[in-house]
Amino acid sequence: MNPWIADCDGKSPFEVLVENESFGSALTLLKAVFENDKNRDMAESARRYRDQRGNSLLHMLCIVNNERVLEICDYLLDNGCNVNAQNECRQTPLHLLCSNISEAGPSISKEAINFIQLLRKYNADETLYDVRGNTCKDLLSKFQTFRKKIKWISESIQHKDALSEAVRGENSQKVENYHYYNKPIGKGTFSCVFPAVDGRDGREVALKRLEKARLEKRGDMLQREVRCLLKLTSCSYVVNYIACTRDSNFEYIVVEPMEGSLDKYLSYNEECSQASTICSQIAGGLEFLHQSDVLHRDLKLQNILYRRKPHFIVKISDFGLSKFLQQKSGSESVMHSKAGTRRWMAPELLVENTKEHSKATDIYSCGLLYYYVGTGKKHPFYSSDELLMSNFQEIEKSIQRNKICWCSSLSSEAVYLITEMLSEDPERRPAASSLLKFPFFWSDRTKVDFLKLVGNQKEFEKPRIL
Ligand SMILES: Nc1ncnc2c1ncn2[C@@H]1O[C@H](COP(=O)(O)OP(=O)(O)O)[C@@H](O)[C@H]1O
Ligand SMILES: [Mg+2]
Repeated sequence: MNPWIADCDGKSPFEVLVENESFGSALTLLKAVFENDKNRDMAESARRYRDQRGNSLLHMLCIVNNERVLEICDYLLDNGCNVNAQNECRQTPLHLLCSNISEAGPSISKEAINFIQLLRKYNADETLYDVRGNTCKDLLSKFQTFRKKIKWISESIQHKDALSEAVRGENSQKVENYHYYNKPIGKGTFSCVFPAVDGRDGREVALKRLEKARLEKRGDMLQREVRCLLKLTSCSYVVNYIACTRDSNFEYIVVEPMEGSLDKYLSYNEECSQASTICSQIAGGLEFLHQSDVLHRDLKLQNILYRRKPHFIVKISDFGLSKFLQQKSGSESVMHSKAGTRRWMAPELLVENTKEHSKATDIYSCGLLYYYVGTGKKHPFYSSDELLMSNFQEIEKSIQRNKICWCSSLSSEAVYLITEMLSEDPERRPAASSLLKFPFFWSDRTKVDFLKLVGNQKEFEKPRIL
């Protein structure tokens, strides 16, 4: 049997199977032809097959509106069918596919994109002209999506839709090899952050975009941020630096992508079951910073990011205001140049003419963070609701008076730790390296062991009568 010979209606057995949507049988037929050595001539005739209008088997399949023909096309292309064969109107299979898509409606379907990507994988040429002088690019120009295929390793949960649009070239821009979605996932005081895909390897990244004109007024802010990130790359609890790039108006810092800020996370999860994990990871990150002589100087919910996959983790980010301690002079503090965010600053920074940021001022902001995490976003110096939080002066006065409004949701271990961290006297605040030793972070086992140890002491066996 020759599956390409036409019947009286001009249709071959293969064509009949495709028309009747018997795609499984059509593929079996092809396999019987290509996988049997004796059928070499018949395989060659499949590659050269043309109907009366010069259409190849691939042309025939490209006008079928069904995702299942993709597998058949892939098989034919894999077995040497010419992806750029032209029919009597000089249309390639890709031309037929594109005309079909452009006639189908205002938007381009996912199936159609997969089909285009398959043909592109086998080097379909989108610049060939048909008899009317159209290239495939022209046919799809109204969609503006016919671009080189971008690989994408999809990992993000939160930004998946945005990234899939960026990969398709929709609502997106490109800088160097990074394709980024137009809508930011976050905005800070100095920047916008966008989800992006690296076109070279398909890796997801986040692009922090800073306007050059604004940076000029801020000295070496960008260089400082990058230097800090580079120094901290080996810490799991600091957002990982990847690269830097620029275009005519912007500088970009490329970092690992996270799902969002702790601020957002706590808005969705007020009863935060991860409080202890979050606090211990922040402590781990801060310990690494301070050991590396980096002061963060702007610790707050918006600068702590979280991710859920492959496991839940939080990381310290935004080193735009960070500074290195002068190692040679052995200094433990740096001059204070109004760095930080109101409501997140230690009392000593609120006093006029104070100049010193220190490890202890970071610990203070970290104490505020712990309070927020433990209470589902309440401020320790303000008992009313969030709306009134804009009353900075009121809050700052409370900070200076050190009148903490304790919340019943905090355990006694949490109260003890936070009290120490929010001590008015910076000298009394614990070092980052000792935070994890506080009972708040003890496991149940450690607590039981501790109680046993204390309980076994003589004094407990025979309590003194006072
Ligand atoms: N790597 C990232 N992944 C996901 N979102 C991020 C990332 N980096 C920053 N963001 C979001 O963008 C916001 C602003 O980024 P940030 O680095 O803090 O900028 P700024 O220095 O302008 O404050 C953050 O609060 C966060 O919501
Ligand atoms: Mg920030």
